[in-house]
Amino acid sequence: MQLKTQLVPKPLHQLYQVIYTTAEAAAHLALEDFGAMHYSNKRLNDTTYLATLSVSFEELARLWQTQPPIFIHHICPPQIRIVLEQRDSDLDSLRAAVKNMLPPDQQPFSIQTRILDPQTKRPYQQFDLNQALSSELIAEGYTLNVQQPWWIFSLAVVRDAAYLGRSTAAQNLSDWAGGQRRFKRDDDQISRSEFKLLEAIEVFKLALPENAKALDLGAAPGGWTRLLRQWGYEVWAVDTAELAPALLTDPYIHHYREIAQHFVSHRLNFDFIANDMRLDIAESARLVNALAFRLKPSGLVIMTMKLPPRGVRQAIEEGLTTLRRNYEVLGVRQLFHNRHEVTVALRKLTVAREDMN
Ligand SMILES: C[S@@+](CC[C@H](N)C(=O)[O-])C[C@H]1O[C@@H](n2cnc3c(N)ncnc32)[C@H](O)[C@@H]1O
Repeated sequence: MQLKTQLVPKPLHQLYQVIYTTAEAAAHLALEDFGAMHYSNKRLNDTTYLATLSVSFEELARLWQTQPPIFIHHICPPQIRIVLEQRDSDLDSLRAAVKNMLPPDQQPFSIQTRILDPQTKRPYQQFDLNQALSSELIAEGYTLNVQQPWWIFSLAVVRDAAYLGRSTAAQNLSDWAGGQRRFKRDDDQISRSEFKLLEAIEVFKLALPENAKALDLGAAPGGWTRLLRQWGYEVWAVDTAELAPALLTDPYIHHYREIAQHFVSHRLNFDFIANDMRLDIAESARLVNALAFRLKPSGLVIMTMKLPPRGVRQAIEEGLTTLRRNYEVLGVRQLFHNRHEVTVALRKLTVAREDMN
């Protein structure tokens, strides 16, 4: 009887709890993303938390679809809490639970299971949990589509319980379980930084110009430059450090072995600017702002902001204030592949000002 009561899912508009994921080192910054909406927090593992809020999951998701948080990668709704006994019968409990939360339409679904305490011994694995839930839904006539789901059933397994909820990929802020967007490693990959650029283009839904001229500030060892060349760009790679040997013979890569502060004096024009310089945010923003005049109208910029040990929000806000002089800020997020940094996407304003402030 008690089990039955627990298996009634809370509707999203009555659910004042959320499971959220952030980078381990950014837990305190993630809490600030909630602002006054946040009451309390329970840690589920190093990167995943269960928060109690003053707004419903539905309201939060609606708000964050238009104004996304910076440090929270992913949210999902804990609509039902299922007690686990670490026996095969847990799978029956999950099947019974999902039967009470069938989607209202025939849009495809996916199951995203995360075992947040892998050290607990259980007679089933992540695959078995996915299988139990998806087979139940398929039997009810729903279509599984792991690549492009509309409905996502998020299952978060902790020591003695599993949280299950149904939401859409858009509500969750990411199509990927816990926001963990993993890319396949390419044999020619030069640096892990390449994943940051790939993820930024996807997250900010950017359509980069093709076969154009790109400026890559802080280019070494050359991961971003390599990708830009792959996409048909002629690249001006600025860095005092060496580029990877594979790039040295490419006639469409122009390596300027100088600091970006000196490079700005060259009168060259670009269709796209990338900036991954390990540089103070204020200085980096000042340089990108000064380069707006060298960028084609409505040209895009992707840049990382390296976070200072203290005063992170203020440093980001001041950097954005500088950039807003010449750019529309399309997004600011800490991506799954960012470490102590956030990624910013910008579009040049129609009226840009040539200045160095
Ligand atoms: C994180 S690495 C860039 C990695 C690169 N995006 C890739 O994919 O290989 C940061 C780079 O910024 C460069 N850097 C730091 N300050 C700079 C400056 N003032 N001008 C140009 N490059 C700078 C460093 O030399 C370093 O190579």
